[in-house]
Amino acid sequence: MPVQMNVDYSTSIPNNVALGDDRRVLKALEKWHPGYLDWWMNMGPEGFQDALVYLRTAVSVETDGWAVFDYVRMPEYRWGILLAPPEEDRKIPFGEHAGEPAWQEVPGEYRAMLRRLIVIQGDTEPASVEQQRHLGRTAPSLYDMRNLFQVNVEEGRHLWAMVYLLHKYFGRDGREEADELLRRQSGNADHPRMLGAFNEATPDWLSFFMFTTFTDRDGKMQLEALAQSGFDPLSRTCRFMLTEEAHHMFVGATGVQRIIQRTCDAMNQAGIEDPYDINAVRAFGVIDLPTIQKKANLHFSLSLDLFGSEISTNAANSFHASVKGRFKENRLQDDHTLASATYPVSRLVDGEIKVTEEPAVTALNTRLRDDYVHDCGKGIALWNNTITKSGVDFAINLPNAAFNRQIGEFKDAEVSPTGDLLSDADWSQRRSDWLPSKEDGDYIQSLMVPEVEPGKFASWIAPPKVGINNQPGDFEYVKIDG
Ligand SMILES: [Fe+2]
Ligand SMILES: [Fe+2]
Repeated sequence: MPVQMNVDYSTSIPNNVALGDDRRVLKALEKWHPGYLDWWMNMGPEGFQDALVYLRTAVSVETDGWAVFDYVRMPEYRWGILLAPPEEDRKIPFGEHAGEPAWQEVPGEYRAMLRRLIVIQGDTEPASVEQQRHLGRTAPSLYDMRNLFQVNVEEGRHLWAMVYLLHKYFGRDGREEADELLRRQSGNADHPRMLGAFNEATPDWLSFFMFTTFTDRDGKMQLEALAQSGFDPLSRTCRFMLTEEAHHMFVGATGVQRIIQRTCDAMNQAGIEDPYDINAVRAFGVIDLPTIQKKANLHFSLSLDLFGSEISTNAANSFHASVKGRFKENRLQDDHTLASATYPVSRLVDGEIKVTEEPAVTALNTRLRDDYVHDCGKGIALWNNTITKSGVDFAINLPNAAFNRQIGEFKDAEVSPTGDLLSDADWSQRRSDWLPSKEDGDYIQSLMVPEVEPGKFASWIAPPKVGINNQPGDFEYVKIDG
């Protein structure tokens, strides 16, 4: 297959996979395209389909200089199919097939497994666009509005990425799955998205920033694990998606950081020393730190559920099959088959939380989750650094992994953020100390007033330190009327 590093924009679907020479797949994708556009118009950013948005579009898959920035109407965005450059003589890094040449076609015995993983990943991409579709109307600035739309069009591109794999490698059932990806809808009672966190509402901008910090980071970890796959087209697809994903987490982590900055500044100006004096803090139209902690607790725990059960034979099977690896598998120093290795897993044993050693190959979800928690630490450090520098006595902490879980070992237990098992009565009594209450939600909602003047920001968030693509502070990132 000829490989182009630069993206071919001459076909209706931009790509670097020589689609022009692949009539069957090009035709199939052209047939899928109108349904995608219908979905984008109906379920994508509400109220801004005619706006001109300063967006980046990928023009190459090389590490530097892969994107250009320009004003684009979102429905005219060139959603493309982009795979990272092939690694010459790539060998499968783990599992039963470790050391064999990476597969360029789907092995028959792993067809169902691969299709399932691609469909699950694909389902999350449009889901987040649906969850965020109302947020443009309450954007705290044009800068933030643009970032929201950038994330949205790239999640749309990630859907294209998975749909390409389905059409190219999975024949008829691949086509049917591609259609289903446009049929399910986030939060829909009859046709919900496949995973819980992708059916939750994203009602306000703090939720959006927490979602992009925590849930997009789960996406990163899943993509990292799939980037190790023996199925090379999947690996290359995920590797390029990861370059885009980094910006989503930047939007989230700096978004929360700017909210925290604004809160700390307001507290300092007003001489408020007690961060728990919520009414005093809220009087200045900013979001108090304890409420930010509660939102972090919620989104972190919802995102942990996305890793699945702590002990999982599915995870063991896909590792054994060389289909889904570990985080940075190719850099790990072990036998890459985990034949006799064990891994510590925190479990509920006889009504107590205990760490037990489990066969490492069945504990892969836990391991990926632990790597995720470690990675989350970067965002938390950024936030706490801002608080410390402001001289405010408070710290954001990640809750215990057993807190507020709906899936896995702890789904039937009530556990505090510090990891104490609670009675149902204690949990009910303390719940609103740890998770956002209706009042917290109403307060945040009351702040969601749009600010659309270039260079201006809503009362509850500080401006960013630098603009997108180094644009000046008063740059008009979105021309709302087109
Ligand atoms: Fe994505
Ligand atoms: Fe993302």
